[in-house]
Amino acid sequence: MKSLIVYCSSHGTTSKAALLLRKELEGDVVVVNLNRTRLHSDIGLFDTVIIGGSIHAGNIQSKVRKFIKENSADLMTKNIGLFLCCMCEGREAEQQFESAFPHSLRDRAIANGFFGGEFLVSRMNFIEKQIVKRVGGVTEDTCRLNTQAIQDFAHVLNRRHIHAEASMYSFEPSCSRAMRLY
Ligand SMILES: Cc1cc2nc3c(=O)[nH]c(=O)nc-3n(C[C@H](O)[C@H](O)[C@H](O)COP(=O)(O)O)c2cc1C
Repeated sequence: MKSLIVYCSSHGTTSKAALLLRKELEGDVVVVNLNRTRLHSDIGLFDTVIIGGSIHAGNIQSKVRKFIKENSADLMTKNIGLFLCCMCEGREAEQQFESAFPHSLRDRAIANGFFGGEFLVSRMNFIEKQIVKRVGGVTEDTCRLNTQAIQDFAHVLNRRHIHAEASMYSFEPSCSRAMRLY
């Protein structure tokens, strides 16, 4: 099975999450940071496409939105995993997730991941420092990356692959219910 992870990261936390996820996934995994690399080939080579990004002032990166828009038809034929890095939790995080990913993609997703995040003050510019200080009272690096959520997300996708491979040899329907992971 071949998986593609595409993501954007502003200060490196989503990169960290994507690399941790790659370690957990079985099969061949290609990781593409949309900030650095333009995806030249289409996504037809992959069985699974995992899309991730982080939230800044309520929004996911525009390059993630653009990737989804440009590949919307092909994405509807893939196993999909969606994940976010952000510091909000609970209902607020869910609302951000809903506005980051279109309804059609969320409906198709096998795994939805809320991976937490980090405030890396040391990498922020002056304005970002002012924002996180004013909004959250944050003045130093803070890590709330949820490695367990990353492992759980990978587990769901790995299980889906096992089901898919098994169904090549039998006619049993495979499970495709989406799971929400925190
Ligand atoms: C200027 C700024 C604005 C942010 N706005 C939000 C926000 O609206 N909601 C949220 O949940 N997290 C917010 N965050 C937290 C980021 O989502 C978090 O730092 C994340 O780990 C960033 O990941 P990245 O380094 O991969 O971009 C904000 C962080 C910064 C620096």
